[in-house]
Amino acid sequence: MTTLNKDTTDYSMLKETNFLKKVIKVHLGNFILKYKTPAYLVKDFNSTYERLMKKKKLPLAHKNLAGKIKNEHSLYSVEDTPIQGAKHPLVEVDKHHNFLSEAAFKFFSNVADHYLNIARVKRYRYRLHSVWINEMKEGEYNPIHNHFGSSEIGLASILILKLPKNYGEEATNKDAPTNGQLAIVGNGGGQFYTSIYAPQDLQEGDFLLFPYDVKHCVYPFKGKEKRRTLSANIDIHYT
Ligand SMILES: [Fe+2]
Repeated sequence: MTTLNKDTTDYSMLKETNFLKKVIKVHLGNFILKYKTPAYLVKDFNSTYERLMKKKKLPLAHKNLAGKIKNEHSLYSVEDTPIQGAKHPLVEVDKHHNFLSEAAFKFFSNVADHYLNIARVKRYRYRLHSVWINEMKEGEYNPIHNHFGSSEIGLASILILKLPKNYGEEATNKDAPTNGQLAIVGNGGGQFYTSIYAPQDLQEGDFLLFPYDVKHCVYPFKGKEKRRTLSANIDIHYT
């Protein structure tokens, strides 16, 4: 398995020959940006979810999801409406239901603008397509999948809301744990291509943003605790 570890290579020999000054990084393929979500927003998502689940107000989100997870509930959806209300910044449009705060819209707007700026996408409008929460328990899992909205072009995301302290005993190779782990798979290729990003150090509040077509999965775990994440899909419309 490959992870993006800190580069600990000793470049001293290269420095002597002045090679480093001539290095240019050419990045081909998709990229993931990892943000730290403001703590008040994480708290708000968690308390909104818990309050509305208690009242049984949240619709199930199974219909469009790959997960083998009983508790997949929707916080926002435009259902199957075509991308007409695309605006800039993100606002509530074409909604079927909405349990999000204005601060949440602002956050999704800010990170999408930031990502598209780095991706050098200049002319676009976007629309929040769907937001939902997965709460995984022992034995449940999310098979390899990618996201889409009404458009095939857009940004998918994963926000870590709650993580188990313990994922249970690994069946083999305890030094290479995978129980409950997220793995994001690159869609490029080649001998030296980093093909899997499977961070071991994800924390509550971490927000990963990446294009719809990037495949990913979450492995099952053992234990009584729950693993809770939120996903938001943002349709992109080029203008
Ligand atoms: Fe996903």
